[in-house]
Amino acid sequence: MASQKQQPAKSRSKLDQLREREQRAEEGGGAARVTKQHAAGKMTARERVQFLLDEGSFQEFDKLVEHRSQDFGMEKEIYPGDGVVTGHGLIDGRKVFVFAQDFTVFGGSLSETHAEKICKVMDLAMKVGAPIIGLNDSGGARIQEGVVSLGGYADIFLRNTLASGVVPQISCIMGPCAGGAVYSPAITDFNIMVKDTSYMFITGPEVIKTVTHEDVTKEELGGAATHNRKSGVAHFSADSDEHALRMVRELLSFVPSNNTDDAPRVVPADSPDRIEPKLNSIVPEASNQPYDIREVIDLIVDDGYFFEVHREYAMNIVVGFARLDGKPVGIVANQPAYLAGVLDIDSSLKGARFVRFCDCFNIPIVTFEDVPGFLPGISQEHGGIIKHGAKLLYAYAEATVPKVTVITRKAYGGAYCVMGSKHIRTDINFAWPSAEIAVMGPEGAVDILYRRELAEASDKASARRARVTELEDKFASPYVAAERGFIDEVIEPAQTRPKLIRALALLENKRDTNPPKKHGNIPL
Ligand code: HXC
Repeated sequence: MASQKQQPAKSRSKLDQLREREQRAEEGGGAARVTKQHAAGKMTARERVQFLLDEGSFQEFDKLVEHRSQDFGMEKEIYPGDGVVTGHGLIDGRKVFVFAQDFTVFGGSLSETHAEKICKVMDLAMKVGAPIIGLNDSGGARIQEGVVSLGGYADIFLRNTLASGVVPQISCIMGPCAGGAVYSPAITDFNIMVKDTSYMFITGPEVIKTVTHEDVTKEELGGAATHNRKSGVAHFSADSDEHALRMVRELLSFVPSNNTDDAPRVVPADSPDRIEPKLNSIVPEASNQPYDIREVIDLIVDDGYFFEVHREYAMNIVVGFARLDGKPVGIVANQPAYLAGVLDIDSSLKGARFVRFCDCFNIPIVTFEDVPGFLPGISQEHGGIIKHGAKLLYAYAEATVPKVTVITRKAYGGAYCVMGSKHIRTDINFAWPSAEIAVMGPEGAVDILYRRELAEASDKASARRARVTELEDKFASPYVAAERGFIDEVIEPAQTRPKLIRALALLENKRDTNPPKKHGNIPL
């Protein structure tokens, strides 16, 4: 709790002094504020850290750090630890670094020393090559400290940027996260937001009302549902603090500790040779009929377990982690059950970000392709589908991790090139016999190639049908691509699991590099 600085009484033993200091730190902002935190459905910072880490593994740093502010009576308000609990511990026996903002101390606001504590664990995480987990619950910059606090934020943003692609960074948003403070989670790899208690925005409802005269609630503006479904800022939505923290543990089970490690392998219970006859009939006869690509994924991966990322956003593409023969893979799959699996701005961004994460952290990419092309439309064109679609293309092309693609059905147009085609360095390309690999679908192609002929035909419908059939026979198959070697093998769908596992085993020690450069210029 808050107290003025005291000179420890000589009569107290040195051990007592330590215990008292530690106890004051552990009390955070005091019992009343802790009660308020619990009443709001939130755990305290310490409870969160304990829940997150393997039991008894937390080693705290800077428990006794105090702020340096002398203004606005702050010199009389000292809370050891200064509103953030930092340190390291284990998750499933692996080292991680953690910081948890304590909302009971000045609303978890970020002071100079609070920022220094976070920077210290980030710096160590980089040195030892371990993930950084941030549990955010903060009123933003410590108002009493002014620009000093802003500098602290910038110090963190710099470290987030330098750590990007070196160690995994995961943010849990478990309370307010507003103003420039959002940019630390935004740079990290994954954001998990807790429903009803967390929000993220650059400016809140009041400022928006003043500037644009729009009315919006905090939840609508930047709650978990908004950022999971609309903006894509968040990757996961959790029902509670506990749920969010369990998700962090699960997510880490799929990723390596740093960019020079491999992802952790588990001993698989599922046979690598399992064939799955259901896959032979999963793609409907009619090529415009939907099916759920998640069912395909579930039937192929170990134990049917798929940990989906960005589940509620841009559902026309599905991304997430699974294991094949015990080894983590990143899966990117068009979803024919949503907007026919078309590529648009949001799905391109979602796919690109995920592919790049996998490439940073040595996680092989398995692509399931059934894509009718890029979404036509004025809003897409004016929204920049050209540059956003290019991001997905760029991400796939620059990725040097093992890449394996399975074309289940449509692979049309530019989307064929983008979705892990042979031409952009995918190592092994499979197609199911149901694959249709062409510049565009037969219906569209007929309208362009035979417009004049059809206009002049006496029986337009049957003339059109004949031309469509002709094009279907010629192009709506994997065989033209297979004859060129653009497809390595046309496989029976039931065999997909063993085929993928053998391909990934082959590629296990794959080494590929990009030309030396400072960095590429991905079309942002
Ligand atoms: C200092 C703060 C604080 C802050 C909250 N507190 N925010 N103290 N600096 N930024 C303190 C409160 O005074 C209060 O202290 C305690 O934390 C809890 O706050 P409440 O308001 O009672 O809680 P609640 O009603 O839940 O509201 C939470 C809140 C609100 C929505 C976050 O406190 C708020 O609007 N705070 C200000 C947010 C803000 O404008 N921050 C600056 C944003 S700009 P007591 O003693 O009563 O417990 C920014 C720039 C970053 O962050 C830029 C980086 C580049």
